[in-house]
Amino acid sequence: MERNWICFLLLLLVVHIKASKHDIDIHQPLSRIAIYETVLQLDPSVSIQATPGLLGLEDKQAEYVTVTFKRPIGAAITDWIGVFSPASFNASVCLEDKVVPNRDLDPLLCTAPIKYQYANYSSPNYASNGEGFLRFRLINQRADFAFGFFSGDLFNPVLLAVSNTVTFVEPKRPAYPRVAIGRVWNEISVTWTSGYDLSEATPLVIWGTEQNGDAYTSAAGTLTFTRNDMMW
Ligand SMILES: *[C@@H]1O[C@H](CO)[C@@H](O)[C@H](O)[C@H]1NC(C)=O
Ligand SMILES: *[C@@H]1O[C@H](CO)[C@@H](O)[C@H](O)[C@H]1NC(C)=O
Repeated sequence: MERNWICFLLLLLVVHIKASKHDIDIHQPLSRIAIYETVLQLDPSVSIQATPGLLGLEDKQAEYVTVTFKRPIGAAITDWIGVFSPASFNASVCLEDKVVPNRDLDPLLCTAPIKYQYANYSSPNYASNGEGFLRFRLINQRADFAFGFFSGDLFNPVLLAVSNTVTFVEPKRPAYPRVAIGRVWNEISVTWTSGYDLSEATPLVIWGTEQNGDAYTSAAGTLTFTRNDMMW
């Protein structure tokens, strides 16, 4: 009797664990990745390289990067590449994450990928020859990038290799200017996005009229959003 009860309890436990493992809220493609399940198994035979390493040389704010990778032994269609930004996504370097209360386990990685693709996407023979490449469009989002090579599909990620770092030459430069009509008829607002803090650079707009040229400067204010502002 008592034994039956224990069995029942165990069964319940197993069912519960199974349910929570697959209980992923798939409201957008990135939420398919069970990044918190990641296991680290760095494999020196796996290589991953991203080129070019320096972006934005021609004032561009978005560029394509080619990632080439090799997995001589064990290549499978479930291998995938994740794009991380900032490039140092090893949890041992993101100290702020260690102070989050009520955590059951320390995370292995401090962030989730911002993009991903299966290793065979551009290389249909990847699973048989273990070689492939992918192209990712990266936008200047103020931090550098690195690529992680994972096996085990999206729901059992095993990190096998990490690429070199890719960075924009001027990651903080002002970008995406927006001009709008102001609250009153003779007012125009100019807003832009910049990585500079007020202590590093004074934001201002230099403007003028056709007759006077760039004769005026208007001071600007700054609103800063950090990673913690992005939590829901
Ligand atoms: C590529 O990988 C995906 C994801 O694992 C799989 O669904 C697809 O069938 C694979 N394609 C080929 C050509 O092997
Ligand atoms: C993360 O850092 C730890 C400790 O320095 C190290 O053992 C581990 O290999 C690193 N992981 C990666 C993916 O580089």
